[in-house]
Amino acid sequence: MKHLLKLGDLSAKEINQILNLADQLKYEKKNNIKHHLLKGKTLGLIFSKSSTRTRVSFEVGMYDLGGTALFLSSRDLQIGRGEPVEDTARVLSRYLDGIMIRTFAQQEVEDLAKYGSIPIINGLTDYCHPCQVLADLMTIREHRGAISGNKLCYIGDGNNMTNSLIVGGIKMGMRVSVACPKGYEPDADIMKWAAENGDFECTDDVLAAAKDADVLYTDVWASMGQEAEAEERKKIFKGYQINNDVMAVAKSDAMVLHCLPAHREEEITSEVFEAHANEIFDQAENRLHAQKAVLVKCFEGE
Ligand code: CP
Ligand code: NVA
Repeated sequence: MKHLLKLGDLSAKEINQILNLADQLKYEKKNNIKHHLLKGKTLGLIFSKSSTRTRVSFEVGMYDLGGTALFLSSRDLQIGRGEPVEDTARVLSRYLDGIMIRTFAQQEVEDLAKYGSIPIINGLTDYCHPCQVLADLMTIREHRGAISGNKLCYIGDGNNMTNSLIVGGIKMGMRVSVACPKGYEPDADIMKWAAENGDFECTDDVLAAAKDADVLYTDVWASMGQEAEAEERKKIFKGYQINNDVMAVAKSDAMVLHCLPAHREEEITSEVFEAHANEIFDQAENRLHAQKAVLVKCFEGE
């Protein structure tokens, strides 16, 4: 693989290879075994939106692998003043060995890959968040021993997280259910693909979706870029929350995941969040290990 633009581009075999390498890199980091697999490589990190986890885990990941990362805020780049993506891609391809980009339009990420000549990694768009879901799958396997056969239930906005979770979950043999208010469903093409390729349901009934779930997942009601809708969304999404009522219908040993940042008492109660903090912060840690595996695979695949 050369790029990571969206999970739909990866086969189940490639996802498994990334997860296996991520497990190995995690074990080695814990045991202070260093592998400078990307010695001398430089990764540019373009951010048009805020980030804590993605930025820090990519910077530390490159450092761990012997390479260098450059933080490039789009506010300071000429791309933020309208320089075309096709020119930015061709220029940065001559300085850097790879680019991670977090932006609004998926097309911008696809265009960087089209016009540039170096690996491009999607660090979140309005459409998807593939790096997060690789870390999520890693965490599910770590905590439950397997991915396939588990029921994943996502409650909340049908957003970038939902789109990637559906694709990743179905590809890896999970049953996937989504509960969201009418009009806030995930991407229509992704839902069609999921229904044709696996066990998938989308409903506005939270408790029906959560029934017998092994993994419960939620995300903010208003994503980055939707700040103006935040108050209205609080009313629309009321009840689309992981709370004790939801936990009561899921499997008794169900795990809870959240990509973070979390808004307590909105999409998840403080009580449930803290009861599952161990899983949620393992998930956040796994961003580092999963992304190191993605970086190695992308640079290898060139
Ligand atoms: N989950 C996630 O991508 O976090 P950041 O926005 O902090 O990078
Ligand atoms: N849906 C959220 C995910 C943040 C990691 C957002 O796009 O803001």
